[in-house]
Amino acid sequence: MKTKGEVHAIKWSSDRLLLLDQRLLPEQKKYVSIDTCRDATRAIQDMVVRGAPAIGITAAYAVVLAAREHFVANPKQWRESIEADLQELSAARPTAVNLRWAVERMRNIVAAAPDLDPLDNLLAEAKSIHEQDIAANRRMGALGADLLNGNATVLTHCNAGALATGGYGTALGVIRAGFEAGKIINIYAGETRPWLQGARLTAWELLQEDIPVMLLPDSAAAHVMRSRGLDWVIVGADRVAANGDVANKIGTYSLAVLAREHGVGFMVVAPMSTIDRDLDQGADIEIEYRNKEEVLTCGGKRVAPEGARVFNAVFDITPAELIDYLVTENGVVARPDAAGIRALFDTDT
Ligand code: MRU
Repeated sequence: MKTKGEVHAIKWSSDRLLLLDQRLLPEQKKYVSIDTCRDATRAIQDMVVRGAPAIGITAAYAVVLAAREHFVANPKQWRESIEADLQELSAARPTAVNLRWAVERMRNIVAAAPDLDPLDNLLAEAKSIHEQDIAANRRMGALGADLLNGNATVLTHCNAGALATGGYGTALGVIRAGFEAGKIINIYAGETRPWLQGARLTAWELLQEDIPVMLLPDSAAAHVMRSRGLDWVIVGADRVAANGDVANKIGTYSLAVLAREHGVGFMVVAPMSTIDRDLDQGADIEIEYRNKEEVLTCGGKRVAPEGARVFNAVFDITPAELIDYLVTENGVVARPDAAGIRALFDTDT
């Protein structure tokens, strides 16, 4: 089903990968064409494409590009020669586990694909990763919206929408579904300094579908909860540990603490591909640090004095005990913990 103003961050067209350049939004809507795996790795590092599921889908198509390049150059040894590209790709960003998850899924196809004609199988798998993500988002949208009572006021952080996924979005999928069902009447989006995913991307994405949005400076959240009333904070995730701790955009943890203090519900929406059962707890998740220029500047203009040092961790960890609901395509876990996370995988067939 195609919805009005639907946004596509990733397209595969005429044997090329097209990425909507998210560094340019909302001023320009421009796709860049990606022809090699190395270009895809750079696009992920430079945030042309961002958001955990979108990074994973891009990586899946990037494996197709790598296979094509190496198969043409060396049809007998392409499986070996592809490896350096895949390792560089897997390391492009460290926190979102979907990247490694997608590369591993593609590696299985690399191993099993027919010697004479491997590319069709690889492309079919990449497309299926893409389509499964959209289907998961639709399912999570419905499950998450079911949790809302009527007339809800919600706050989201960063961008966990169509731009961050194969389409429809995780947290923003729930907000879309809730709005469509008439259960959400007010949507706040935190601007999400320093990269401004909320101000630039979430606001743009919602307005493409005429869904009204109120932007908040990140520092206004406590005041809004106390003085204007808020029912839910709804966010995505970059990685969920086996005990339910969640890594997500920096500022998510403070929103969870504030939500608990003010009696506001806290919902995390993430596909099963974001759950990393190899890590026992959030403290084991590698947090990405990015360039200090992101903090020293705003809108391309320097705002801080020479000599200022910068702390630019771009994700934080929200402990499971602050999370009221984890919504996945396999079901909803209330007050997530290790047993609740395990149960999600038991329904995975
Ligand atoms: O640095 P980003 O923009 O890639 O961070 C994105 C987030 O933190 C999202 O909330 C998360 O990846 C979930 S996207 C469905």
